[in-house]
Amino acid sequence: MGFSAIRNRYYIIEVQFVKNENRKLRLISYIIMALILIPAACRKNAKQNPDIKMIMNKLNADLSGAVTAFHSENYAELSRRAIAIADHPKVPLKQRKIIAGELKEEMQEFKKYDVAVHSAALLLKKAASDKNDAEIPEYISTINKNCHGCHVRYRKRIRNLLRGK
Ligand code: HEC
Repeated sequence: MGFSAIRNRYYIIEVQFVKNENRKLRLISYIIMALILIPAACRKNAKQNPDIKMIMNKLNADLSGAVTAFHSENYAELSRRAIAIADHPKVPLKQRKIIAGELKEEMQEFKKYDVAVHSAALLLKKAASDKNDAEIPEYISTINKNCHGCHVRYRKRIRNLLRGK
């Protein structure tokens, strides 16, 4: 075997090695990608399907955020918070069915509180866009009253129902 033949063979081995390494690297990068993407997809899913408790905690954060934004005269932030309250995600069907099964004809009354929160949040959004400082506290108060109104009447009952107590 001449020198060039040895060099060629060495070259082939080296190419093979690089190919194998590339395959390994590709496999590792796929695994890393999966490790990043799968939890992200799950988080997105959880975001899309929050249960009533998660929805409530978000409403709470948005209402507090709205109050803070108002006192900071941050009207854009106040608008954003108002929209988030008005457009809160729907309670998942499974929980809605359980709640409707328990409340029966009272369901209308229960829903009224939610509609009142929604309507007041839309008015709050409009008042924030208009920087209408006279009306803003009124709508925040209306939202608050209806959060509380529903809690006084239904929270414990529904919590126990959903937690199987
Ligand atoms: C139509 C009824 C209704 C309205 C309106 C309502 N809630 Fe609730 N809220 C509930 C129920 C029912 C629970 C109990 C959920 C559970 O324990 O799974 C609850 C629970 C909560 C909790 C406790 C969550 C936890 O982690 O235990 C907070 C905080 C809350 N609501 C905030 C709000 C705020 C703020 C608003 C208004 C912007 C609001 N809620 C409007 C029915 C309502």
